[in-house]
Amino acid sequence: MTLRSYPRFITLEGGEGAGKSTVLAALRDTLSASGSEVVSTREPGGTPLAEQIRSLLLDTHHEPPTAQAELLLVFAARAQHVRETLVPALERGAWVISDRFTDASYAYQGAARGGDLAFIAELERHVVGIAPGMTLLLDVPVAVGLQRARGRGAIDRIEAEHEDFFERVRGGYLARAKAEPERFRVIDASQAADAVAAQAVAHLRQWMGANA
Ligand code: TMP
Repeated sequence: MTLRSYPRFITLEGGEGAGKSTVLAALRDTLSASGSEVVSTREPGGTPLAEQIRSLLLDTHHEPPTAQAELLLVFAARAQHVRETLVPALERGAWVISDRFTDASYAYQGAARGGDLAFIAELERHVVGIAPGMTLLLDVPVAVGLQRARGRGAIDRIEAEHEDFFERVRGGYLARAKAEPERFRVIDASQAADAVAAQAVAHLRQWMGANA
């Protein structure tokens, strides 16, 4: 099974503290202003069951999952999200913006955690089956991103990882972007939040023009 790419499916990726929330709000406003239906969602999460799996993955007050359990949990959440939320919205013609998607599993569970990339690709083919038309990667130096993320207060299980883990996450994302330059737009997210959002909106407008 090859992946089905939906032009109206846009994903937002990046390391910790890359400023995804500000960008997400700007993209949502731009799409809504065009009069289209917009569904904005996130991973892990986006359905009640998938949000529960998110807490299992990120909360620090229970048994930490092994690397394999973590990988299967993110894909279990994604399987639910794809069938219950993403495909129904895309099939009725809505624009969908997801704060993270499968690229995050290649970066976190693959590049950073050392998971088998071929196995992740198998899961993607068999369990996910769909791909975004455009992916915005907010790229920020690890030290800058971690300082922002940790300045926000409570730290989840993954945010508590060491800097070299996040260097591998960043490298994993940049490798994905290099391998699929037609899908990815890489934005320098060390800039001020407004400038990052403006660039993201410019990419979106160009994409909307080409996929009206
Ligand atoms: P965030 O979306 O609020 O940044 O938090 C989600 C966390 O989950 C983040 O640390 C990245 C991690 N994650 C994975 O490890 N694998 C995945 O496939 C996804 C979607 C997220």
